[in-house]
Amino acid sequence: MIGINTEIIRIEDNDNLLKPAADCLRNGGLVAFPTETVYGLGGNALLAQSAEKIYRVKGRPSDNPLIVHISALDEAEKIGERIPDSFYRMAEAFWPGPLTMIVRRKAEIPYSVTGGLDTVAIRMPSHPIARKLIALAGCPVAAPSANLSGGVSPTLAKHVIQDLNGKIEYIIDGGSAQYGLESTVISLTGDKPVILRPGSITYSMILEILPDTLLHESLIGTVQDLEEKPSSPGMKYKHYSPKAEVFLLYGTDEKIRSYMKEHDSENCCMFLYEKQEKSDFCHTYNLGSDKDLSQSASRIFAYLRDADEKGYQRIYIPAVPEKGVGLALMNRLKKSAAGNSIKL
Ligand code: TXA
Ligand code: MG
Repeated sequence: MIGINTEIIRIEDNDNLLKPAADCLRNGGLVAFPTETVYGLGGNALLAQSAEKIYRVKGRPSDNPLIVHISALDEAEKIGERIPDSFYRMAEAFWPGPLTMIVRRKAEIPYSVTGGLDTVAIRMPSHPIARKLIALAGCPVAAPSANLSGGVSPTLAKHVIQDLNGKIEYIIDGGSAQYGLESTVISLTGDKPVILRPGSITYSMILEILPDTLLHESLIGTVQDLEEKPSSPGMKYKHYSPKAEVFLLYGTDEKIRSYMKEHDSENCCMFLYEKQEKSDFCHTYNLGSDKDLSQSASRIFAYLRDADEKGYQRIYIPAVPEKGVGLALMNRLKKSAAGNSIKL
């Protein structure tokens, strides 16, 4: 696999260019493509060997299941078994879009796609290139985020090129990902719906459709107030990790600012919200308004990767309340910080 010629396609008006990539995907090749969340690394979800290639190329443990992407709702019935009514209510509210639902697996979906589980994750993305590619391929598309395992998810084609050039057949450049965080994952296989991964479809949006939805206990255990002492998730959760060390700062704007001033140097960078004065730091990244965290979410992964490219050794980031999109943003940042959470 390593050392193959990767074709990079930029899609502007002429989406006929997608046809060869779609054929390649159906026939067992791997194609990275844009979605509205992050770029995905796609393979034919009906072929065990495509899933095995995905794990190999990413360096991902093969017990971590893949999401199966579809372009029309009726395709879900070929993937899931005994699909509950809640699935269709959620699909009506949020699909196509950044939501993944877990249901029982049909035997046609190989265990290598589901990491050996009898359940399967299904998502219908809204990105027009993703939908067109899946429809042209004519098969469900298994796709994790198109980054090397443990690294930061890609929100631009250049991130995918950095990680996967020479390892897969096609990379489709569709510009910048709109949401910038991976989809919300909800399990519909138990007595009550359970959110396994927070995302841009927020807990309160889901409660409006499925009022008995729970947050998975691994999320509740980590959700905290900015006033509390932050928990240290520890190394076993290390993920979304740039090479630089990430420090997550909890405290008032004033305390965060004076801590950053003390630690400022040429080797570090500060991620700041608009309200936080930035003029006298060596290197800063603008996270936008803290009143609209969807902006910060859409920028965060690109900033983490950029900070690495610039060679900074430490990245300081203010914590935000774990509500709405803040829950998803903080979920990723805590994993990047891997225990470097500082209460000021
Ligand atoms: O936004 C996204 O979801 C992106 C784009 C490409 O669609 N994909 C993505 O895939 O983030 P990945 O592989 O990086 O994350 C998939 C998540 C993992 O946390 C995995 O454990 C979970 O979904 N997952 C998949 N199938 C599952 C299953 N059957 N049961 C429980 N969790 C599952
Ligand atoms: Mg991923």
